[in-house]
Amino acid sequence: MSSIGFEIIGSGHYAPGPPVKNDDLSRVMTTSDEWIFPRSGIRQRHYAPEGVGVSDLGCEAARRALEDAAVDPAEIDYIVFATMTPDYIFPGPGALLGAKLGIAGVPALDIRQQCAAMLFGLQTVNGLIQTRAARTILFIGAEAHAGFMPWRDWGALDPANGRVATPEDRERADRHRHLAVLFGDGAGALILRATERDAGLRGIKICSDGRFAELLYVPGGGFRSRPYWKPGSFDDDMHIPRMDGRELFKFAVTKLPKTARELCAQHGVSIEDIDVFLAHQANFRINEYIRKDLRVPVDKLPSNIDRFGNTSGATIPILLDEEMRAGRVRKGQLAMVLALGTGVHWGCALWRL
Ligand code: ACO
Repeated sequence: MSSIGFEIIGSGHYAPGPPVKNDDLSRVMTTSDEWIFPRSGIRQRHYAPEGVGVSDLGCEAARRALEDAAVDPAEIDYIVFATMTPDYIFPGPGALLGAKLGIAGVPALDIRQQCAAMLFGLQTVNGLIQTRAARTILFIGAEAHAGFMPWRDWGALDPANGRVATPEDRERADRHRHLAVLFGDGAGALILRATERDAGLRGIKICSDGRFAELLYVPGGGFRSRPYWKPGSFDDDMHIPRMDGRELFKFAVTKLPKTARELCAQHGVSIEDIDVFLAHQANFRINEYIRKDLRVPVDKLPSNIDRFGNTSGATIPILLDEEMRAGRVRKGQLAMVLALGTGVHWGCALWRL
């Protein structure tokens, strides 16, 4: 079989609710814009409201992408859905999204590579296209991290309500504040289609290392326990992820530039040949380290973490949608995708857009 390419024919994103500013968070935790912004680059984030899951957020983003592509949902012949915060522990949200879009029956694959999902998603899409298993693929990244935020009184976040968290709730939230300030919710969608054009995956180097899984993980609710959710787990904060932020930071700034160089060397591409670096947005400082290490000019490594926080699997699709709509990322460009997510999964891909 001859090799076949794929291209983005439409994109969309959706962020739920009004933005929650750093200082709004100080109503439920002991934190501030002065602490959060210099350490992360984040100014605000969005949260999925109660009752809204990633299949809903993804559906909204998918509708926008379909409209952008001028494609009818019936033309989608495969769904790949990336999330680490599914509507249910099982089943995954891909089939739910298909039903919500009115295309029940279309195969839906759920992937869970957290913040590295775009890389694994690209490789999956490439495989589906190369084997002619699919021609038009809906790739969705969506997250609803709100469900693990460590405060109870969501109304206290809104200054208009005139109240703040109780001292007891604040003390509890403070135990998780280094994690809680980073994450935000949203969804990004890409419609990818097989093409004769010179476009698609040009190279990829991805790695997974489970020895470091506990750098960021949820301690409760796993099927090693009988039952898998213990009475009292909520009171012990077992639903809230534990994160070693410093180690993850070090992991990202050492592994990603090294992998980028190895991938370039393997494919005879120089860093200067790359038009745009689409990096996961976990922390602005991480991306600044990587950018400086690889000597990439500022305008080649776009950032939107200030407005969304870390949206895990949704991040790169949201970033791509924003950059393409602004005309800064265009067909024909050579992009490098860089990402690291808990697992730990990490790597880089060369993508001719
Ligand atoms: N507000 C105010 N003070 C805070 C906050 C907060 N939100 N969080 C922590 N602090 C305090 C701590 O209590 C500590 O105080 P102390 O020195 O008096 O004990 C001090 O600030 C330093 O805390 P650290 O947690 O050590 O802060 P650090 O400098 O490491 O920065 C951060 C934390 C921003 C989380 C950083 O480590 C980071 O961004 N790491 C990367 C995380 C990451 O990439 N996560 C996503 C992984 S990808 C995925 O798959 C989802």
